[in-house]
Amino acid sequence: MNPEEGPTRRGFFGNLFVAWAIFLAGVHFAGAGAVRFLFPNVLFEPPLSFKAGVPSAYAEGVDESFKSSHAVWLVRTLSDPLSDRTGIEGMYALSTTCTHLGCIPNWQSADVKFKCPCHGSGFRMSGMNFEGPAPRPLERFRIVRADDGQILVDKNQKYQWEKNQWTSAEAYLPV
Ligand code: FES
Repeated sequence: MNPEEGPTRRGFFGNLFVAWAIFLAGVHFAGAGAVRFLFPNVLFEPPLSFKAGVPSAYAEGVDESFKSSHAVWLVRTLSDPLSDRTGIEGMYALSTTCTHLGCIPNWQSADVKFKCPCHGSGFRMSGMNFEGPAPRPLERFRIVRADDGQILVDKNQKYQWEKNQWTSAEAYLPV
């Protein structure tokens, strides 16, 4: 093409077509984004408080029935010196969230400890940390008896050992 002739008709329409294609693609993606915006992600979180049956249904030790559904271990013990309940049989609700970086430890009944698979932190049945990088014990949640006699666990209220909160009245349920 002679440069002095300017753009050809064919070239002009070709460029116009490409420009329109880009424009329409942009409109399409913007429209799709707008429609997606009308349907935000909805997370179906389990309720923060739940009933867990009657205390007599629990044997001494760690119960994992609510680990997956509510991220809680229920522990029944004959005595809990760490909460000032030496010699008082009762139950507490332990958080399954590792206090290092938030992974979920596993209960190892043979070793009588919770072991975090991420960086190796270990916690006693009480929730007390004793090995690995976890800087503090597992947290406990409010545990009381509901009007119908069932255990009621309330995750809206947590208790931290390092703040001397495990001795709070509703951090431990005598049975
Ligand atoms: S998250 Fe549990 S040890 Fe790191």
